[in-house]
Amino acid sequence: MTARETPAPVHSLEARYYTDPAVFETERAGLLSRTWQFAGHESEARAPGDFFTVEIAGESLFCIRGRDGALRTFHNVCRHRAHPLVEGTGSTRVIVCPYHAWSYELTGDFRSGPNVGSVPGFDPSRLGLMPVRTESFHGFVFVNLDDDARPMDAWYPGVREELAACVPGIGALEPLEWIEVPERCNWKVSVENYSECYHCALNHATFASGVVRPETYDIRPAEEGYVLRHTSECQDLERMSYPVDLSVPHAGEYRSFFLWPMFSFQVYPGNVLNTYHWRARDAESCTVWRGWYTPGGRESAAIRQLAAQDRETTVAEDVRLVESVARGLKSRRWRPGPLVLDPAGGLNSEHALRALQRWMREAADGGRG
Ligand code: FES
Ligand SMILES: [Fe+2]
Repeated sequence: MTARETPAPVHSLEARYYTDPAVFETERAGLLSRTWQFAGHESEARAPGDFFTVEIAGESLFCIRGRDGALRTFHNVCRHRAHPLVEGTGSTRVIVCPYHAWSYELTGDFRSGPNVGSVPGFDPSRLGLMPVRTESFHGFVFVNLDDDARPMDAWYPGVREELAACVPGIGALEPLEWIEVPERCNWKVSVENYSECYHCALNHATFASGVVRPETYDIRPAEEGYVLRHTSECQDLERMSYPVDLSVPHAGEYRSFFLWPMFSFQVYPGNVLNTYHWRARDAESCTVWRGWYTPGGRESAAIRQLAAQDRETTVAEDVRLVESVARGLKSRRWRPGPLVLDPAGGLNSEHALRALQRWMREAADGGRG
């Protein structure tokens, strides 16, 4: 191969993608408003009238359980003069606006309002709450502000089935704990760090020696859809930091399904489901939530211990890394360096970042992402 034919290395994104508030605004108006975003878990609104609020792309929304058992999501704003309808979490028989007491059914239909009968042409059928696309993914509730969004199974083909195979009884799992970890970095720095394990050997001793077998670790972008799949074998049992029963199918595997742009289902060896989800705050900060689950959300010393180990090692180690990168991105002399893309993949390669950064670039440059 001559020098002219040698392909140029693929470079990382320019610093402005991670620091420029204008890029963040583009993402908020586009990407975050058109992709599936995690809202909460079905168990947070179990009975008719139970609700929880969530903010997605700057929009206040709430998910509420109907008498028919369906969980619906609405924009949290009254059709009269825009007062928000509910706050936090709670339970209600009907949704009543605190400003002038217009009320809505749990289905979002307009119900009544003081003296509205005196208004000529008042048409209650046109004054229902504004619905938001909602899907349950094994009990995990996702919403999409784009009415025309393709369903999650089209965005993330195969994940629903593979996840169910890796986590027997996933439908009965409920949150045991969600830990909120603020990070002083752009959300993309955090998501990129999550999507390569090139840094693992140097920075994650416990994960690399007591959970996974690093020489088997790989991260692959899906051929179709917006998924990055991590796979690894579990560490030798005598080196594992917790006990694993290998008689259960898939118990000896580590799996992760990153669903672009801000959610990941992880399965630790032993079929232990846990999740990451990110919320972008502004160009320079985000929050990561680590979730751990048990049947019915029941107490489990083993899962608590594993969650604590993860928090004190992998999570804390990653926070230091991503916040340091955020500082480095402000260097006036830094220019994007080459990604380490080994055609063979594996631990010491950043091949998943090539797909991830392509999606990031499309989103930030105004594509549909
Ligand atoms: S703004 Fe809700 S009733 Fe007036
Ligand atoms: Fe990490």
